Amino acid sequence: MAELELLEYLPGDLFDGTVVFITGGGSGINLGIAKAFASLGADLAICGRSADRLEGAAAELEELGARVVAVPADVRDYDAMVHAVEAARDELGPIGVLVCGAAGNFPCLAEDLSANGFKAVVDIDLLGSFNASRAAFDQLAETRGSIVFLSAGQAFVAYPAQAHVGAAKAGIDQLMRNLALEWGRYGIRCNSIAPGPIEGTEGMRRLGPDDPSYHDRLKKAIPLERYGTVAEIGAAAVFLASPMAAYITGTLLVVDGGQNLAGSCPFGELLDQAMKSRLE
Ligand code: HXC
Ligand code: NAP
Repeated sequence: MAELELLEYLPGDLFDGTVVFITGGGSGINLGIAKAFASLGADLAICGRSADRLEGAAAELEELGARVVAVPADVRDYDAMVHAVEAARDELGPIGVLVCGAAGNFPCLAEDLSANGFKAVVDIDLLGSFNASRAAFDQLAETRGSIVFLSAGQAFVAYPAQAHVGAAKAGIDQLMRNLALEWGRYGIRCNSIAPGPIEGTEGMRRLGPDDPSYHDRLKKAIPLERYGTVAEIGAAAVFLASPMAAYITGTLLVVDGGQNLAGSCPFGELLDQAMKSRLE
């Protein structure tokens, strides 16, 4: 499979016997991460709200040879997360890698955002990441495992119409650092990945420009002059969870082609224009 070519440098049995639990693993970048681990021998547990979506993703992962447990669960519901990690353990064994990838996003200027809109995103991204980590703690301590959080450039660069997402993702990164500090004694490593704009994803559909002619301009604003791929985020997650990163904890790995170096323009400029034109 072409999308997994990057992983051919690694031994195909790197994650044999490892159980990887991925929140939001039914689609997009998170499913790409799941495929990367599956192609290196891991078994997968995935959760999300849509059972149909999980079922489709499970079939794709099984084709790669993984044993898969798919549990419909909302990360905002702590009891549901406890149930999900227990189901994973019962069927696959204790979790060795947790990927906190479930997220929600929509563009909305702060002055238009309701308190509940802000809360919805913070609850899914930040509370959801805590819930999954806390629920999986005993299993991760048992395996001396690791957690990979999905952050975003919004955590450290301000973008218009992304106050809710910036707050949620910055919170995730600080949660990651605190857990790295506290849980290192259990052998649990905690790190974040901040993807840049990743082509073909729901995030880009929601935040990218409607007018396709803008894409070339946006790509030119990225030092590497292109969008990233799902496979490149999968490779970063595999690296952070692997023995190659055995002494890495508490780190934010930015995988964005250098996009953040130029700040949020012109991405921010375009988003700002789109928001203003919607309000006119
Ligand atoms: C303003 C909005 C809104 C919008 C929802 N709300 N959409 N406000 N603009 N477009 C408000 C609602 O009015 C409501 O507030 C509150 O948010 C909760 O809405 P619900 O629909 O009840 O929320 P819920 O069903 O929990 O859905 C959560 C969601 C939704 C975030 C709103 O979009 C979702 O489920 N998204 C999951 C998929 C997703 O977003 N993927 C992209 C991830 S990409 P009121 O006050 O009316 O009650 C990413 C980073 C990308 O995270 C970076 C790319 C470069
Ligand atoms: P996506 O396909 O929409 O992935 C989000 C997943 O989270 C979906 O499978 C969704 O499934 C699940 N989810 C949402 N709310 C949930 C909830 N309350 N409980 C459980 N699961 C929930 O989006 P994506 O663009 O690939 O993004 C994946 C991750 O990468 C996110 O953390 C995002 O912030 C991050 N990221 C993406 C980009 C990008 O360019 N796309 C850039 C930076 C960071 P259900 O709807 O079925 O629940």
